[in-house]
Amino acid sequence: MGVKLTYYGHSTFVIDADGTTIVVDPFFAPNNPLSPAGATAETIDADFMLLTHGHGDHVADALAIAKRTGCLVISNFEVVTWMAAQGAANVHGMNTGGAYNFPFGRLKSVVALHSSTMPDGSSGGHPNGAVINFNDGTDVYFAGDTALTYDMRLIGEAGGVDVAVLPIGDNFTMGPDDAVIAAGFVKAKRVIPCHFDTFPPIRQNPDDFTRKLAEEGIECTVLRPGEEFEI
Ligand code: NI
Ligand code: MN
Repeated sequence: MGVKLTYYGHSTFVIDADGTTIVVDPFFAPNNPLSPAGATAETIDADFMLLTHGHGDHVADALAIAKRTGCLVISNFEVVTWMAAQGAANVHGMNTGGAYNFPFGRLKSVVALHSSTMPDGSSGGHPNGAVINFNDGTDVYFAGDTALTYDMRLIGEAGGVDVAVLPIGDNFTMGPDDAVIAAGFVKAKRVIPCHFDTFPPIRQNPDDFTRKLAEEGIECTVLRPGEEFEI
């Protein structure tokens, strides 16, 4: 048992949940400059895929992986409709506030304050984060791309999470100072930062972020692309 997260840079993670593989926001080489050597749409395995929204830096390799692996694509209605129209065989549409029991655990689609347009300009619906309650009891919050929002307090009031994966890049999403507040809102025991250093406007110092979280009594694990963390 156990939940292991491997980071591929930007917002791309692969979750190993007791042998089930879930890829989150697949964005690999050559488009993702942080993608570790050897990680491409041709090499990543997946049983499930979670897409937080339709922007290219989150769905660039989604179709290729979905077509090759036949994984079940989980996202909002508009994103999965777009994926299915282009050849993804297995999709599961959700919408904000809804939860569903998947084989790996219960996934709740939560508010993200951002935008969501597909790479071809069609509607990507509303962006979302996800709170996953894995079968072993581990709770992980993937914030997706989002501003700091008071809605995050609902996650904390519902019991909090073991790990919050939060964007800290600023410019397109919340920055480090707001992410520290977000970590408190969701009552995270630990934060893994993402969505930084990929492009010049989102360069950040994750060590400063770690120090600020420590002042609030919250652990931080900064993963370099290719590194993994077992919760
Ligand atoms: Ni985005
Ligand atoms: Mn993004």
